[in-house]
Amino acid sequence: MKADSLIYNIKTLYTPIHEPPLRGANLRAIKELTNAYIAVKNGKIIAVGETDYSQFLSPETKKIDAKGKIALPGFIDAHTHLVHAGSREEEFAAIQQGVPYLDILAGGGGIINTVSKTRATSFVELLTQARKSLNKMLSYGVTTIEAKSGYGLNLATEIKQLQVAQTLHQQGPVHITSTYMGAHAIPLEHKKNPATYINSIIADLPTIKSLGYVDVVDVFCEKDVFSLSETEKILTVAKNLGFKVRLHADELEALGGAGLGVKLEAISVDHLINISDKDIVKLGQSNTFACLLPGTSFYLQKPFAKARMMIDNNVAVCVAGDYNPGSCPTENFQLIMQLAASYLKLSPEEVLNAVTINPAHLLNLSNQKGSLTPGKDADILLLDAPNLAYIMYHFGINHVNDVFIKGKQVVKNKRIEGETK
Ligand code: NIG
Ligand code: FE
Repeated sequence: MKADSLIYNIKTLYTPIHEPPLRGANLRAIKELTNAYIAVKNGKIIAVGETDYSQFLSPETKKIDAKGKIALPGFIDAHTHLVHAGSREEEFAAIQQGVPYLDILAGGGGIINTVSKTRATSFVELLTQARKSLNKMLSYGVTTIEAKSGYGLNLATEIKQLQVAQTLHQQGPVHITSTYMGAHAIPLEHKKNPATYINSIIADLPTIKSLGYVDVVDVFCEKDVFSLSETEKILTVAKNLGFKVRLHADELEALGGAGLGVKLEAISVDHLINISDKDIVKLGQSNTFACLLPGTSFYLQKPFAKARMMIDNNVAVCVAGDYNPGSCPTENFQLIMQLAASYLKLSPEEVLNAVTINPAHLLNLSNQKGSLTPGKDADILLLDAPNLAYIMYHFGINHVNDVFIKGKQVVKNKRIEGETK
């Protein structure tokens, strides 16, 4: 088969090698090709190899010289709160001084602050803010994301947020999957009787399902937010309607959300800073991913999840960004990877698998995305770095030079194609 484009002169190509979900020793295994090429046709990878690519060339093939850069699969960020209005830098001093995140929320700040702004902001303005953030993520090499609602806390605004994400997905080039997170906080108007809000979330689930593009429901299972029993109630109805479920679990308090996630066969439990050792063992025997968010520990000045213990107990691990205005205000996904290396103690190979093939599997996209494998989408990064370890070592900067999504170049020499500055 002849390629319609071919990237050559790649110093080293690094890609996941085993079928997901990757656990234990498999999480450390990757394939490395030197002096590599990637042949692409109709947006799909048709071959990757070393040295001789002449068999894929026709006179029409567009040849792209990687000039000795390294190649990786596009990064997949399986946990973001992309769509929201405004920012919350006024909370930063309190966080610096150690005021608990949950106290800020209880005082009507935190998520509730962003909810007021998101309700008051038009679809077009939300789209503009989210597009700006999404383009930043893309420039750092993120080619697929998950985006949650949860700053509306009423049906109309939740749908507005979900429609912003869906519009961005349709506009491309980044692939976006949507998660409904009406259970992100109790809105002020239901504070006196939270049960009425929980009932309204449950009543709204069929409408969310009928949108057709939301197949996951997430709950913030946390002390003073949604209890274990409230979480179970919401997620059981969601499952019965055909949704997959996820939980923000054991982030700030050891409530047992991870264990509940295993019981509910959740596709992931996320955060897990305070997961019990017992639940780590349970998680390792389940099909539920641990989705770790080291940027949140960093920003909130909290401990980091016990990733090594999880990996030793056969837990399937993803690393994600958790981009949001209150606990992780950054779109720099390479910084998240660097934090995973420095503080979760993942090796460069483990980080790569935890931000590509494992999250592809979590988002039900591993047939299309997550590795540089023939038959999959040509979502490819070229990075100005001598090797994979260098990306974890030289921190805080952007190593991504070029990004291709479905074979189309969308970032060229660090500039997003078509973006006006
Ligand atoms: O994943 N923990 C709850 N939700 C977000 C934070 C949202 C916010 O503070 O706006 C998180 O960290
Ligand atoms: Fe989150």
